[in-house]
Amino acid sequence: MKDLKGNGFILRPLRLSDSQRYLECFVGENIKPFLLRVPRDLDEVQKIVRVKVNDFRKKKPFGESYAIEIEGVFAGYVELHNLNLEHQEHKCEIGYNIHPDYRGKGLATLAVRLLTKYAFEKYRLKRMSAMGRLKNKASARVLQKAGYKLEGVLRKNKEIDGVFYDDFIYAVVKK
Ligand SMILES: CC(C)(COP(=O)(O)OP(=O)(O)OC[C@H]1O[C@@H](n2cnc3c(N)ncnc32)[C@H](O)[C@@H]1OP(=O)(O)O)[C@@H](O)C(=O)NCCC(=O)NCCS
Repeated sequence: MKDLKGNGFILRPLRLSDSQRYLECFVGENIKPFLLRVPRDLDEVQKIVRVKVNDFRKKKPFGESYAIEIEGVFAGYVELHNLNLEHQEHKCEIGYNIHPDYRGKGLATLAVRLLTKYAFEKYRLKRMSAMGRLKNKASARVLQKAGYKLEGVLRKNKEIDGVFYDDFIYAVVKK
């Protein structure tokens, strides 16, 4: 579990002590319909983070979760999911969230680019994908800028409080 060096930031393995700042990444006006899931409180985040931290230590983890750190401050996180699945070892998914103080500065794009390159090399992947709400234009733009291509729209893919939402799926596929 090593730090990954970016331009003006590092990606370092997530820690339990990041939980409060991790929770703050879900703050924002009307953010709920933009996300797959919003944790209720610090207690829930600590449980989520503990699972991620423990999983990361495994020889064949399900995911790798990194804090995006700028001058020692947690500025968001970026993570890999669905790694090492049987018959699907060639692919994984990426997710990210930026702390409100650091949004709109190009950080998600840089972090996604860096983790994508790392994951393709480390796991010898053929495919990486990301899913998000179709209405989340900023998130889609991040993926476009990081080299992902739109593969399609999953209609009525998520239900929140009785409302159905469409999702996008973007991917990078190597030869
Ligand atoms: C979405 C999010 C990850 C983007 O992170 P970020 O660091 O602010 O993103 P970047 O600065 O790298 O790039 C954002 C791009 O989206 C664009 N953008 C922002 N709001 C937009 C909107 N409403 N419509 C269209 N484009 C938009 C920006 O202009 C920028 O593109 P540009 O460089 O071509 O101008 C961040 O805002 C966030 O965490 N939001 C809340 C949670 C969330 O949506 N997480 C993602 C779940 S899939």
